[in-house]
Amino acid sequence: MEHAAPAEVVQRGLQDIVALESHITFIDGKGGRLLYEGYDIRDLAEHATFEEVAYLLWHGRLPTRAQLDELKQRLVGLRGLPEPLARLIDSLPTDSNPMDMLRTAVSGLGLFEQPEEQPGPSSVEGALRLTATLPTMIGRFQRRRTGLAPLKERPDLSHAENLLYQITGREGSEIENRALDVALILHADHELNASTFAARVTASTLSDLYSAVTSAIGTLKGPLHGGANERAVELLDEIQDVSRVDEVVSAKLARHERIMGFGHRVYKVEDPRATILRAWLHRVGESAGNLHAYEMLEKEREVVHRKKGLYSNLDLYSGSLYSLLGVPKDLFTPIFAVSRVAGWAAHVLEEYQDLRLIRPSALYVGPTELHYVPIAERGP
Ligand code: CMC
Repeated sequence: MEHAAPAEVVQRGLQDIVALESHITFIDGKGGRLLYEGYDIRDLAEHATFEEVAYLLWHGRLPTRAQLDELKQRLVGLRGLPEPLARLIDSLPTDSNPMDMLRTAVSGLGLFEQPEEQPGPSSVEGALRLTATLPTMIGRFQRRRTGLAPLKERPDLSHAENLLYQITGREGSEIENRALDVALILHADHELNASTFAARVTASTLSDLYSAVTSAIGTLKGPLHGGANERAVELLDEIQDVSRVDEVVSAKLARHERIMGFGHRVYKVEDPRATILRAWLHRVGESAGNLHAYEMLEKEREVVHRKKGLYSNLDLYSGSLYSLLGVPKDLFTPIFAVSRVAGWAAHVLEEYQDLRLIRPSALYVGPTELHYVPIAERGP
């Protein structure tokens, strides 16, 4: 049997391949810096809101007061779901994976758009609608599966406040709301991660934003992408007490198991988002009088760094923060989507502006000289 040439040019996982130019996000993996449109993530996490960051990603510049007010007003006005879509969410099995629900609902939302609302190269209409409705979809599903009626809309709440309200049915404290706002800022974009790449591939065929975000949600769902924070919390549940961290983590490392929330393909120092979120986990824990998770994670950080030289990433802290806010574990990845949809939309809009069908090649390694064999003559 003949084979093609050896796979000498294949870059598995497209690792280190520079696929396109983008002005949205810059990652300095050695220096531990992350920039959105030129602004350091630390600066944005300190001073901006998620709404401001969404504007920044979609327009390439920070909004004026009037532009921000308009964006906030539009987001609030677009929170409602078309009635048939709300009924569709209500009809899903209550034990559905929330990411499957979200993928279905986003795909369904696209059916209710007027053709002129389908986003074109300069339109952020779809980006606004998707960003506004994701918390409503998650909240509706969460209420239904816990046997509760949907909540009334609260136009007075910001995006982060509304998200927490939709999920938990309660208004967060100032510190909780700001912590979630910062978490949304930190997750909003991260260059060509797998889900963003999936969104750009879909958009590069000149397909619409809803299809691109549906592709992205399906991609984010995988545990190698969006699911690490859930597993990081599961490890804390298993360890239970700070006194057991060293023993349990060391045993896992000795068995060559991966500890979720550590290491990164791009960052060779600590993920700057992890540093910021750790401080917020401490603040929220302190205000709740519950530093249990924080203390266990500090010990875990020390053990993993001592034994493997690895640094923490964002996923080490996000799940524990969301747990303190009262978010169930299987909604951690949907919250990731609530934030990342801003980045997906920015990348889709950028793709439309410099469109080039994304279509890489495969190195064929199968046979080339086979001839059709009638079915009666084929062996087992
Ligand atoms: N726990 C234990 N060992 C690890 C870990 C970890 N979390 N991460 C890397 N290693 C080890 C790995 O076993 C290997 O060791 P050895 O050379 O002895 O075989 C070495 O470090 C290099 O691993 P690699 O997989 O080649 O490194 P990578 O840079 O390709 O991996 C990663 C990046 C994120 C896939 C990996 O660090 C990992 O699996 N981490 C756990 C999952 C996780 O936290 N994911 C969230 C990533 S951040 C999300 C985001 O940016 O959106």
